[in-house]
Amino acid sequence: MEILKIKNIRKTYHTKENEILAVDNFSFNLNKGDFIAILGPSGCGKSTILSILCGLDNNYQGEIETSPNLKLGYMLQSDNLFQWRTIYKNCLLGLELNKKLNKENIDYVNNLINTYDLKEFKKSYPSNLSGGMRQRVE
Ligand SMILES: Nc1ncnc2c1ncn2[C@@H]1O[C@H](COP(=O)(O)OP(=O)(O)O)[C@@H](O)[C@H]1O
Ligand SMILES: [Mg+2]
Repeated sequence: MEILKIKNIRKTYHTKENEILAVDNFSFNLNKGDFIAILGPSGCGKSTILSILCGLDNNYQGEIETSPNLKLGYMLQSDNLFQWRTIYKNCLLGLELNKKLNKENIDYVNNLINTYDLKEFKKSYPSNLSGGMRQRVE
């Protein structure tokens, strides 16, 4: 089943000095269960494609079709964890801000922490974790 269809994406960044064509005529289709990698040299437009796909950048040409209710997210190159909060407190931040800190949601977070093998680090701070571990927290 096709869940994502990207057709002829084109993105130009405009800066004061010039225009940068970051993505030119990029297309692909994704089926449920597909696991793909987008490979290319630094600066070829990978991050640009991800930010377009996740709705962070709406200023592009081309078409994106997704199946209804498809949730898209992506792990940024660098994490944005708060250094002064423990791993556990970082994980709970979204719920805290949205005032959804109830038992059900906290259990869910704890399950995720176990799934991602971070249980032993709940009380640690981001600076004590490796880059990969921090990405798992994120
Ligand atoms: N905010 C921005 N403003 C101007 N140019 C940008 C911006 N973001 C990326 N670019 C340019 O777009 C191109 C693609 O960048 P990017 O998508 O970050 O590449 P990649 O993730 O493949 O390394 C690069 O030439 C980069 O300089
Ligand atoms: Mg990148």
